[in-house]
Amino acid sequence: AENMETINRETLQADFDAFDISEEFGFLLEEPLTNLPDNYRVWMDLANNLTHLIKSRKLRDLVHEMPVLIPNLLSDHRELSLAHLALGFISMGYVWQEGQHAPAQVLPKALAVPYWLVSRRLGLPPILTYADSVLANWKLRDPTGDMEIGNMDLIFSFPGGESCRGFFIVSLLVEMAASSGIFKLNLSPSEFNQFTCCAFYESREIGITEFVLFPDHVDPTAFHGTLRIFVSGWRDNPMLPNGLLYEGVSTEPMFLSGGSAAQSSAIQCFDALLSIQHDDETGKDAFPSTSDPQKMFPGKAVIYLFFLKVFFLDYMPPAHCQLIETLSARPSLRDLILSCSSSDLCQAYNSCVSAMVDLRSYHLFAVQKYIVGPGNRTMGCPLRGVGTMLNDKGTGGSNLMGFLKGVCNTTKKALISDRPCVPRENTMSFML
Ligand code: HEM
Repeated sequence: AENMETINRETLQADFDAFDISEEFGFLLEEPLTNLPDNYRVWMDLANNLTHLIKSRKLRDLVHEMPVLIPNLLSDHRELSLAHLALGFISMGYVWQEGQHAPAQVLPKALAVPYWLVSRRLGLPPILTYADSVLANWKLRDPTGDMEIGNMDLIFSFPGGESCRGFFIVSLLVEMAASSGIFKLNLSPSEFNQFTCCAFYESREIGITEFVLFPDHVDPTAFHGTLRIFVSGWRDNPMLPNGLLYEGVSTEPMFLSGGSAAQSSAIQCFDALLSIQHDDETGKDAFPSTSDPQKMFPGKAVIYLFFLKVFFLDYMPPAHCQLIETLSARPSLRDLILSCSSSDLCQAYNSCVSAMVDLRSYHLFAVQKYIVGPGNRTMGCPLRGVGTMLNDKGTGGSNLMGFLKGVCNTTKKALISDRPCVPRENTMSFML
């Protein structure tokens, strides 16, 4: 039995290596580098001083003086990740330095060309993603200390002070807590049984303890008024209706969504593992008539899949995306539990679904507090994922909320109710 355990463990390790996740760090980049080879010092100098350069409005001029550097001296994954992160921060600062009324419409060659090349090698889009700003943007103040909020810092920051740090670091802690549960799972289809569900049972707090740290560390005004613009993208964004031209890369402008925690791999993994199907069409009206999700995804879960594909999956590291696809292709855990009449398994499953409902309910509360509440609907959502698009129907945050509530409700529908199961009591306590 011990031998079997070792073999299972090794297979599991190989699976997780292939999907680029680890037991300790989940989806986070393990010990991100904080410096690049000397050749690329100019990128590091700008990115390290970004807040100051944006505030003093010097960044654009310095970018115009930058040489075009080719990233061929970067070899290792962590070097490429740091380059993507640095070029992402500089690009966002460059585009939004003058605020919402004067965004840059062209990304100069010295930024666009290396950014494009690094992005191609990583399989990421040439825009700041959640994988950059959260998963790869952290360091410890005291390297011997713990990964807790007081001991964590960002590698690069935008204006917004403590709220900027709080926003990215709290998101990181939610992600880490959620993804640590995933490591307990067995990915091998033949072992897809009780063990899987029990592993879930152990991880039924999917990051909620960390999520509630937001209000202590992120001020809604600083977040909404200062930070949000720097994570704004150029897809369906009325501030940049013609997208952004990457000079030296293409003669056509690109349309890319900004960074959003919706690009979190952990949450999508849990949906896939728990076979939570978002077939609710509550968000239907949130999409502009120019988008045609039905064409892209014929079938039931049209809206969510459209949302997922266009705004999130293409913005995740390919290995993480593959994990979600692998898990989604497996037999449905929910069906399996329905077919074996074990009330223990059913209860374990329901506990996990309830944890997802809790998380999404609290998330709704956060969206209300940080996006809908602070008003200024013309700006759309601070995360700039699809917020503008969702808001430009003229109903402010209501469509956005409608969509997110729809996702929360479909999560709840996965609960197996006709069994002697006891859902967690506080399930909806965060609901508005
Ligand atoms: C103050 C904190 C947060 C705010 C204001 C916020 C806001 C939003 C907004 C506006 C959307 C709609 C999509 C978009 O426009 O990008 C969204 C979706 C989403 N967010 Fe957040 N978010 C926050 C934190 C988080 C965290 C920490 C996570 C998880 C790590 C998360 C996970 C998601 C997911 C998975 C979606 C897609 C909808 C769903 O599957 O429920 N968010 N969020």
